[in-house]
Amino acid sequence: MFDKEMLKNILSAFGPSGREETASEVIKGYVAPYADEVYNDRLGNLIAVKKGTSGRKIMYSAHMDQIGLIVTDIDEKGFLRVSNVGGVSPVISIAREVVFKNGTRGVTYFETEKGIKDMTLAQLFIDIGCESYEEAAAKVDVGDMCIFVSNFVEMGNKLSSPYMDDRIACAALVEAFRTMKSEHDIYAVFTVQEEVGLRGAGAAAFAIEPDLNISCDVTGMGDIPNCTRMSVKLGAGATVKAMDSSVIVPVKVREFLKNAADKRGIKWQNEVLRAGGTDTGAAQRAGKGTFSGCVSIPTRYIHAPIETIDIRDYEAAIALMRAAAEEKELPTV
Ligand code: CO
Ligand code: ZN
Repeated sequence: MFDKEMLKNILSAFGPSGREETASEVIKGYVAPYADEVYNDRLGNLIAVKKGTSGRKIMYSAHMDQIGLIVTDIDEKGFLRVSNVGGVSPVISIAREVVFKNGTRGVTYFETEKGIKDMTLAQLFIDIGCESYEEAAAKVDVGDMCIFVSNFVEMGNKLSSPYMDDRIACAALVEAFRTMKSEHDIYAVFTVQEEVGLRGAGAAAFAIEPDLNISCDVTGMGDIPNCTRMSVKLGAGATVKAMDSSVIVPVKVREFLKNAADKRGIKWQNEVLRAGGTDTGAAQRAGKGTFSGCVSIPTRYIHAPIETIDIRDYEAAIALMRAAAEEKELPTV
């Protein structure tokens, strides 16, 4: 069974892009007892290392940053104006609860005069219950970020929560790292600023120079009413990525992952993600180039505060990451 308490703590830790410190501390608490070394680099990436004997290195990467909102202005009545941090849909941002790092809570709504139809984030505001600029400015500053709050919902094998993207993969990487046995050096990297342009993973891969990077992120699916067709469905296993907007995964890397899964009876699906990039691409381009692939967890309603996954896919992703570490032969030129 999965460690529900750990999963909830990782899902709810504050950490919008560029402000990942709290999330990093929470994750560090879970990986440190199993690591030979844990450190943060200059960008804030959290890196946990387990030493092996083969002289080869596998890097795993899951991003710990979250999408959210950043305060651009505070008006005379104490309402906050905002811009997006990462891919935030204006319509999905209305009528939500948000929280700031210092615990200040608020609710979102929009200027109703122009209507909701072509609504942009310029019409969105946050009500933090204040009546003046001074009262609001005492709680929140321009430049502060907030994240969306919603419940952790259990629906049979399905789990719904904000920030499955990508905390579900952070939790999966923690679980895999805790139980991993490998003759290779293992670098579990919890990356920063993925949602604003894959900024953390490249620096980490450049510094580590791994023989193989395996990113873990959420991916889309094609199993809800009238959505864009996609072969991925929830409950059918972790996916082995072929392509997304940031990367074409080399056949050698895909075969490596598929073979590792098949040998152990781990369920996997092929994945082509039409839109959206991942750390996979940033790691691939780092330094002189890196063998880079991705194990994804199929997710419904990505970037809405009710992202929904299947616990069996989560467990398959953990098993597949662990399996890759056990393989003696890594992809080579
Ligand atoms: Co995302
Ligand atoms: Zn993601």
